[in-house]
Amino acid sequence: MQSNDKSRHSCTCSIIGTGSYVPVRVMTNDDMSKIVDTSDEWITSRTGIKERRIAAADEATSDLASNAARKAMEAAGVTAEDIDLIIVATVTPDMFFPSTACFVQKKLGATNAVCFDISAACSGFLYALTVARQFLNSGARKTALIIGAEKLSSLINWTDRNTCVLFGDGAGAVVMRCSDAENAPGRVLSAVMGSDGNLADLLKVPGGASSCPITPENVESRPNTIHMEGRETFKHAVTRMCHAADQALTMAGKTAKDIDMVIPHQANARIISAIADRLGVPEEKTFMNLQKYGNTSAATIPVALDEAHRSGRIKRGDVLLMVAFGGGFTWASTVMVW
Ligand code: ACO
Repeated sequence: MQSNDKSRHSCTCSIIGTGSYVPVRVMTNDDMSKIVDTSDEWITSRTGIKERRIAAADEATSDLASNAARKAMEAAGVTAEDIDLIIVATVTPDMFFPSTACFVQKKLGATNAVCFDISAACSGFLYALTVARQFLNSGARKTALIIGAEKLSSLINWTDRNTCVLFGDGAGAVVMRCSDAENAPGRVLSAVMGSDGNLADLLKVPGGASSCPITPENVESRPNTIHMEGRETFKHAVTRMCHAADQALTMAGKTAKDIDMVIPHQANARIISAIADRLGVPEEKTFMNLQKYGNTSAATIPVALDEAHRSGRIKRGDVLLMVAFGGGFTWASTVMVW
């Protein structure tokens, strides 16, 4: 699926504010090595991750999401009443239902919003961004709050060293609006999305839902935690993200040389290096913060975007390439001008 604002619409969708939030508790690689047979050296060399944040027991995904959202709304200069669409991308909702977006609505007092969640794993934020653009471009909604938020610590099997070292908790949010100004800052130029359900088994949480409810018989095998074929996931991630990035660049009328900053999904430093290499983008034009947070799934890109903006790593007019890959498999890429 591909979309390009300019091809069909006269208005321009722009991100007008960003925000992020991570829980206060830091869990280092050394802390991990006290739980499972691993080491700081192994985790750092294989993934680039040094530490991750873990939410408190009474902190739900909607709490992380609301904290990030308040910062994005403040940056955008909009009130809770202004928001008429809330989309939360997450695979760790507060509950099966109501949606996490409804809990966020309640916490923000955003009474005018229509609210729903999107499940596309690590690609969720870019999927949500594209869905929100359809609402804004069509004129159906005016001000969208788009959030990627995860409490992945709630899905971790803390006895599985293959997966438990990789993930963390956090949330990032953006406020998006449509304007008639062709050169509005924060404007999206292009977006591509794709999925391949044939590869669903490579990365999943198999239990706890309708196909495999938790029972006294299966609870010991922890089906309600993350199961992953790491090497296969790695290979597909690199191939798909490179392809999606190429497509999004072409659609935007840009080449790799035009990119000022790549903001990739933060899963593994080796995946990010492989993508940068294949695209021909130098390291200094690749944003990485996974050393601090690990893989926070749908939250990685909006958290990285917010940090890149607030730290001055990106400035107005920069061409940004965002690219993600995750369970499903799903993938997505967006090119924008900051
Ligand atoms: N500490 C120490 N040893 C470990 C650990 C650990 N935490 N985890 C695995 N090992 C061991 C394995 O048991 C194996 O030992 P063996 O050879 O004796 O069997 C050895 O290390 C190598 O294991 P591999 O899985 O082959 O290691 P690999 O180099 O592939 O790295 C990793 C594993 C980091 C998971 C990598 O495959 C990866 O990053 N894959 C991408 C997965 C990912 O990021 N998923 C997130 C969701 S999808 C996404 O966001 C893109």
